Amino acid sequence: MKIVVVGGGGREHAIIKSIKKNPNVEKIYALPGNGGIAMDAECVDIGATELERIVEFAKSNDIDYAVVAPDDPLVMGLVDMLESEGIPCFGPSKDAAIIEGSKAFSKELMKKYGIPTAEYEIFDSPEAAYDYVETCSIPVVVKADGLALGKGVIIAESREDAKNAIKSIMEDKAFGKSGDMIVIEEFLEGPEVSVLSFTDGNTLIPMVSSMDHKRALDDDKGLNTGGMGTIAPNPYYTEEVAEICREEIFLPTMIAMNREGRRFKGCLYFGLMITKDGPKVIEYNCRFGDPETQVVLPLLKSDLLDIMINVTNETLDEAEVIFDGGAACCVIMASNGYPGSYEKGYEITLPPDDSDANGNIFIAGAKLSDDGKLLTNGGRVLGVTETAETLEDAISKAYNTVSKVHFDNAFYRSDIGRRALMKK
Ligand code: AMP
Ligand code: GLY
Repeated sequence: MKIVVVGGGGREHAIIKSIKKNPNVEKIYALPGNGGIAMDAECVDIGATELERIVEFAKSNDIDYAVVAPDDPLVMGLVDMLESEGIPCFGPSKDAAIIEGSKAFSKELMKKYGIPTAEYEIFDSPEAAYDYVETCSIPVVVKADGLALGKGVIIAESREDAKNAIKSIMEDKAFGKSGDMIVIEEFLEGPEVSVLSFTDGNTLIPMVSSMDHKRALDDDKGLNTGGMGTIAPNPYYTEEVAEICREEIFLPTMIAMNREGRRFKGCLYFGLMITKDGPKVIEYNCRFGDPETQVVLPLLKSDLLDIMINVTNETLDEAEVIFDGGAACCVIMASNGYPGSYEKGYEITLPPDDSDANGNIFIAGAKLSDDGKLLTNGGRVLGVTETAETLEDAISKAYNTVSKVHFDNAFYRSDIGRRALMKK
């Protein structure tokens, strides 16, 4: 089979490394991929949102299957375009991707179907939003309706902060049209859990749970980032919590999307908070999370491509989806300065293949120089994942491998997994 994977970050590298294990795969193209992904796939210089060019490429290269990984092309309808040309895909249609593409949509869906989530109000004019934050309880959470590169959520500790957030999103248009509407919601407290799931609209199979570490610095200090590391499984996601999530959140969401005529096929991501009143949905994503995927897929024992094809064919009930009973830890190595400005172009050296580091190293922000050197080219440069029987061992193995990866100005958190280990 000839496969296209759309996207070019650590998540896509993890997906490609997994798909490569399938014996029927002859060729994988990454659009656009990156300098590290080039070790595992042929990278083609077509951006993930150049929809027409992607479809043209897939048609002219006799592609058998496409995996659309990032949110933007999914929300823009790339899966519909590819499927209308007869190219089967992994990923939701445009109608279903709205579950991530519009927070107003997802909040209304949850309200209509009784799925637990934070209380909220939706606003399409700044005046009404300003009035609301005069009297609502504080802290309060202000969210741009549409996609905003993970930056559209502001936790306002004061009315002043809330007003500034409304101004920046709705009036200054910090995220463009994504800020035409906003959701203002109740501030929830509790540990966060990410659960990715495979679903074909009939069956939903949760993957191993995970925990993201969004803040830039140790002890959850510093700015929010795209994610500085992950562990799996998440110890706060007990059997009991999992059962409640399945009955009150996962299956009701799948059924709700069907009832709305928006059958979701692909990876449905549940961002959950385990509050004192039980698990609640913080957000849905219509795709694999990053860096969650970098711990989840290394623990998947079954064949990823087979599962994906079962999702596409709506035969997920026949798929084998088995996870390793162990644990995984992924430490993101970033460029110093991220998520602010940073320098790039430094050479990356990885541990030799035959070293005792057996890590999965997933490259996100890197490019190849003319003479074939791997150079840093982004904020989050790469993720180092190790698996082991216990979380403790996975963490120490991951940091051991991190110590064997070098590039100037490298920066990473030294406490990935520490909070998980503290859970009794
Ligand atoms: P998102 O970009 O939607 O993943 O949100 C970013 C982060 O904001 C989440 O991971 C949470 O830590 C936090 N967050 C979002 N909504 C709420 C809420 N209602 N209460 C507390 N924290 C929230
Ligand atoms: N790690 C969160 C996300 O992928 O949106």
